[in-house]
Amino acid sequence: MNQFQVKKNRFSEHRVAQDSHQQVLQDGEVMAKVESFAFTANNITYAVAGDMIGYWKFFPPIGNDTSGWGVIPVWGFAEITESKADGVSKGDRLFGYWPPADTLKMKPVKVNPQSFIDGSEHRQELPVGYNVYRFADKAGQKDARADNERSLLFPLFLTGFLIWDAVKEASWYGAKQIIVLSASSKTSLGLAYALADDADAVPTIGLTSKGNVDFVNSLGVYSRVATYDDVTALDSSVPTTIVDMAGNNELLGKLHKHFGDNMKFTVNVGLTHWENAAPNPDVIAERSEFFFAPGQMQKRIKDWGAEGFDKKLNSFVLDTAEKCRSWLSVKEVSGLGGLESIYNAVCEGSANPNEGIIVRM
Ligand SMILES: NC(=O)c1ccc[n+]([C@@H]2O[C@H](COP(=O)([O-])OP(=O)(O)OC[C@H]3O[C@@H](n4cnc5c(N)ncnc54)[C@H](OP(=O)(O)O)[C@@H]3O)[C@@H](O)[C@H]2O)c1
Repeated sequence: MNQFQVKKNRFSEHRVAQDSHQQVLQDGEVMAKVESFAFTANNITYAVAGDMIGYWKFFPPIGNDTSGWGVIPVWGFAEITESKADGVSKGDRLFGYWPPADTLKMKPVKVNPQSFIDGSEHRQELPVGYNVYRFADKAGQKDARADNERSLLFPLFLTGFLIWDAVKEASWYGAKQIIVLSASSKTSLGLAYALADDADAVPTIGLTSKGNVDFVNSLGVYSRVATYDDVTALDSSVPTTIVDMAGNNELLGKLHKHFGDNMKFTVNVGLTHWENAAPNPDVIAERSEFFFAPGQMQKRIKDWGAEGFDKKLNSFVLDTAEKCRSWLSVKEVSGLGGLESIYNAVCEGSANPNEGIIVRM
């Protein structure tokens, strides 16, 4: 088996590790062959927050000399190649959370016609949203474009949908506008589409880097677009809520200082600008809160029931993915070598924001 690994404390360093041991299934276990997965800044954040949130624990590194190495999880599809578990058969296809590797051995529990949970011992303490595997169309019936969009957009638009829902529930935290940081990221765009579709929502300002401003403007999904250099030119008399996908504390400090009491609330979501995450004294911590998508999802499943939640979410993701077809260009790369070839660009943020990278194994 081959597995893509990164150095946990310096994740720009990566390698493909091998393990030639034959993997033997015990009763109740299945073997899945990874087919394809998306790779975006979200996956880099799994490395940045690897120790904090436990992302390193999902898929232990294989091979010799694994000390200091970790595996970044990815979203995508796999096919069952062998099964010793009831309700799961050879040839079943699954959508879920995988290691960037050839295969994954799992132990399905709570199997139903729609999904199962990987009950492997080491995953039990981890958030259940990441341990669910949903049955997908089998080979021969599958729609490659829809599958790529699901890998690329589903986890990110799920988050955009949940942020919209949470901020709306909080009556926009009393703000008259929402500033979205790292506006070109797919998670931000998911949120922006949700806000643009909501007649009750307050106007939005998308803040992005100079190089991405034309792209973001061309989408017409934010009420207004500005660059990180324009922060002090924004009207500080407008009560403002910030949704932060960047995690750039220098930028946040500038915004908090500029808006002062009119900075009503900051929702900390992402860390695309992970190089600038050092604490900044101007950040108003008491009006900032970390947003963890699986937590808000559990809350809404409780409120709306699993079926009600899935219905609302799927309708939002499918509609929004449809809107992205005019600009989203899927770039497929081949195998773990392909992942190695694009990894640094995604890490550094130099990948083109209108591209979505799919690794086909
Ligand atoms: N808390 C949660 O539950 C949750 C759930 C899902 C996603 N997220 C987070 O949302 C963020 C966005 O993820 P995504 O997959 O949607 O991103 P993406 O589409 O891959 O976003 C790419 C954009 O991010 C910025 N960027 C990426 N790397 C950068 C770097 N090294 N330096 C500067 N800018 C960089 C650039 O945007 P700009 O030029 O516009 O800054 C770039 O165009 C991630 O941090 C992700 O973890 C959080």
